[in-house]
This record gives sequence, C-alpha cells and structure tokens, in this order.
Amino acid sequence: RALRDPHRPRFHFTSPGGWLNDPNGLSQWDGVYHLFYQYNPLAPAHHRIHWGHATSTDLVHWTDEPVALVPGTDGPDRDGCWSGVLVDDGGVPTLVYSGRHGEHELPCLARGSADLKYWTKDRANPVITAPPEGVDITAFRDHCVWREGSGEDVVWRQLVGSGIRGAGGTAFLYESDDLRTWRYVGPLLTGDASQNRGELDWTGTMWECVDLFRLGEDGEASGTDVLVFSAWDEGTTHHPLYWTGRYEGDTFTPTALHRLDYGGRYFYAPQSTRDDLGRRIMFGWLQEGRTDEANAQAGWCGVMSLPRAVTLDANGNLIQAPVPELGLLRKDHLQVAAGPLTSPYTQLHRVRGDQLDIETTLRLAPGATARLVVRETPDGAERTVVEVSRAHDGTVGTLRLHRENSSLDPTVDTEPRYGGLPLGDDGRVDLRVLIDHSALEVFANGRPLTARLYPTRPDEAVGVGIGADGDVTLERFDAWQMASAFPDGPRPLWP
Ligand code: FRU
Repeated sequence: RALRDPHRPRFHFTSPGGWLNDPNGLSQWDGVYHLFYQYNPLAPAHHRIHWGHATSTDLVHWTDEPVALVPGTDGPDRDGCWSGVLVDDGGVPTLVYSGRHGEHELPCLARGSADLKYWTKDRANPVITAPPEGVDITAFRDHCVWREGSGEDVVWRQLVGSGIRGAGGTAFLYESDDLRTWRYVGPLLTGDASQNRGELDWTGTMWECVDLFRLGEDGEASGTDVLVFSAWDEGTTHHPLYWTGRYEGDTFTPTALHRLDYGGRYFYAPQSTRDDLGRRIMFGWLQEGRTDEANAQAGWCGVMSLPRAVTLDANGNLIQAPVPELGLLRKDHLQVAAGPLTSPYTQLHRVRGDQLDIETTLRLAPGATARLVVRETPDGAERTVVEVSRAHDGTVGTLRLHRENSSLDPTVDTEPRYGGLPLGDDGRVDLRVLIDHSALEVFANGRPLTARLYPTRPDEAVGVGIGADGDVTLERFDAWQMASAFPDGPRPLWP
C-alpha cells in the first residue's frame, strides 16, 4: 500500500481510508457544519456503503466523527445506507436515507443524539414500503426533504430520485405530517430520455440525488427555483444538471436546463444546504479517473469538492465560487506583472506547486485564446492546459481543459473537457484555478470545470505557465501556495 500516495489531496476532504462517494446530510447545526458521506471504510470499492461523518466550524478544517450509519446485519439497509439528507424534526436531528437490500432501495429514518454523533434507526423502516404503484420505474432512491407551509398548514415534503421507463428521469413528490407516514403526490417533473441533443446535457433514464432549492436576491422567499440532479443510465454516472424554473403547488415548471459542472462525472451527486450566513453551499463528489487496481493500491479513493457558494446571475444561470474561507489556507502570495501576453507560452519560474490557488483576470479580444498550464514537468512531457477562448464574433467563449498530456500513464482518463463561457462585451475572464495533487477545480466567470490528474512524475509536475494566441491582456495574476487542511500535511491512511 502506498502510505504516502502523491495523488492524495491535502486541502480537499477525503475519507480516512477506503471508499468515499456522495456528500450526504449536508447542514449547519448549532453553528457547526456537518458533512456526511457515502463511505466504505473497509476497502476502496463501492460496497456495503456506510455514512461517514466529519464536522467543521470553518468549512476548511475537518474533524472525523464516528461512522454515523452502518448497514444492518438484517433488515431494510443490510446491503447499504445510501444517499440522503439531515432534517430538524422539532429539535431532533433526523436522517432520511435510502436503505438498500438486494435490488431494493427504500426510504429509511434514523434519529440522532444532540451532538449528531450517534444514530438510532427507526423501527418502522422503511417508511415508504414500495415505489409508486403502477409506474414502471428505472430506480428509486435519494432524498430531498423540507418543511413547507405556515401555521396549522405545515407539512413535510420529500422528493425521491427515480425514472419512468420509456419516458425519462423523474423526481417523485411525497408529503407527510410526521416523516413516518408518506402520501404519494405524483411526479414533480419528468425529463425526456429520448431527447439527446448532445451527450453533454442528456437528462438520462434516472435522476440521482435530486436537490431542490430557491435562490433570489430577496432572501430566498421570491426568486428562482433550482432543481439539481445527476443524470444516470444503466449503471453509468453521466453528469450533474439543473433545471431553473418555478416550484409551485405540486409541480415544477422548468424554464431552462443547464450543465452544472463541465467536468461531468468529476463533480457528481452534489448536495447543498443554506447556512447561517444565508449562503447556498454545495459539495459534490470528485470521482477517480484511474483504474480500480490503482485505487486498491492507494488504499483510498473519492474526493469531496471544495465547498462552493452558489448564486444566480442576471440570466438565470448558477454562478459558483469556492467559499472565501479557503483563504485561511493561503500562504506565500506571488504576483505576476500585468500587461499584454505576447508569447504563446512562458513558464512562470516563481509560481510552482501541486497545492496552489490561482486567481487571474484576462481580457480577450475577439478570436483570442489564453492558456494557463499547470502540473508541468520540466521537460513538458506531462502538462495540463486550462484554456479560455473568445469567438471571432460576439461575446461567447469556451472554457477547455486539455488533459491529453496530463499523464504518461495510459490507464488513466485523459479525455478533454469543455463548455460554454459567457463573456461580456469587454472579453473579460475571471479565472480561478485550484490545484490539490490529483484534484483540479477551475472556475471561469463562475462556470466550474472539475477534473482529476495523475501525472506519473508527480514530484516534478509542479510547473505553471501562461500564454496566448491573439490579443490578450493579463490584468492581474495572483497565486498562493495552499497549506494542508490536515494537521500533519498528508492525510494519514488508517489504520
Ligand atoms: C450517486 C449514488 C446515489 C446512491 C449512492 C450510492 O452517486 O449512486 O444514487 O444513493 O450513490 O452510494
């Protein structure tokens, strides 16, 4: 076992060892942030999933807590405690999750101790004993639960992720007075799996991890409703998408469908919560891009994204940005002088590293391209390129990640990634790039692109460079080395 795996991130949350997938039960309780996650402590493989648990007061430094949910020796969750949420049931922390037994996944409850460390499963589990009758479904799991109404008319509402065979992904809506007895209301929204305009925004045959929330200028009372889901089909995790629209009564009326992260499956199954500062905070799961054998060797796999604050722009698109608290880890500030970028490529000898936070503002003339190279070996044999370009006509652009040369290891995924980049009339791009060993998160004008990189010479792949074709001005370039979020540097593997 590689006890010091050079690909293990140091300021992204990872599990102490074994397997990690979706964020679960995301919440702030008495001022403390709680991050639960899909976890197999026994091996880096997706099998008999537990709920891991970590807490933080600043969203940056995390403390491991006891494993929250363990699959039963018998009963509805004997094959795994799958994704779900944490709700406040009159002061009692309560988890709603998918209990798995055989091929069945059904909603279950667990009540927590006041410190949220110890959980007791409800005797009545599963609290919904079967998917809706008479509907041919593709799957039925994952939960979004909230309290709605006022005065006497307060009810719990729940969405369960699903899909209707022959139609498409679906969020089923349920209602309850006590979280224990649920009435089926109907499908809140169903996608269209036959519509496959482009691979990149196909809505799939099943929606995993549905998450519904309202965003608006005026608190969250008025505003736009956002329905996030991860498109899934026949065992394949495709990508996260979101609908914007209006949730009213028992339906969601969509206005537009958007890609949530241009990294596709590298930012999967996100979940969000509203924190005490009124922010919508989102985490997603960064899947691995190396083989199962490589994961087994490493002894760990799966990375939690950095926490993102999510807001809306004037056109109804989500704007995503890492929370400002990450600044706590910044050290060794370096700047590059502003001015026109006249060369196709220049190495920045002072900016180097595999734990970096880079913020730059670029101005692109029509037809111009700017690139930021990261994780480059001195001979350039391994390098990863973040590229932003502006079309010849108008205000549209493209954000691209070239990973073709990110690794000489032929077994790791090096597929490029790309997506649309909104540009103002002035061609301005605010680019933020966070590098944390194998984890890479890019934000260009609020559009994220998340991916993984596994250079074969990780200790040498620390070079950074910039360059341009066409008329590009560098308006600012700031970089910081990032400290480890774990006390001893690398996150130790247990036991
Ligand atoms: C999404 C997902 C969920 C499920 C969980 C199982 O990645 O497949 O639908 O609840 O992971 O670990």
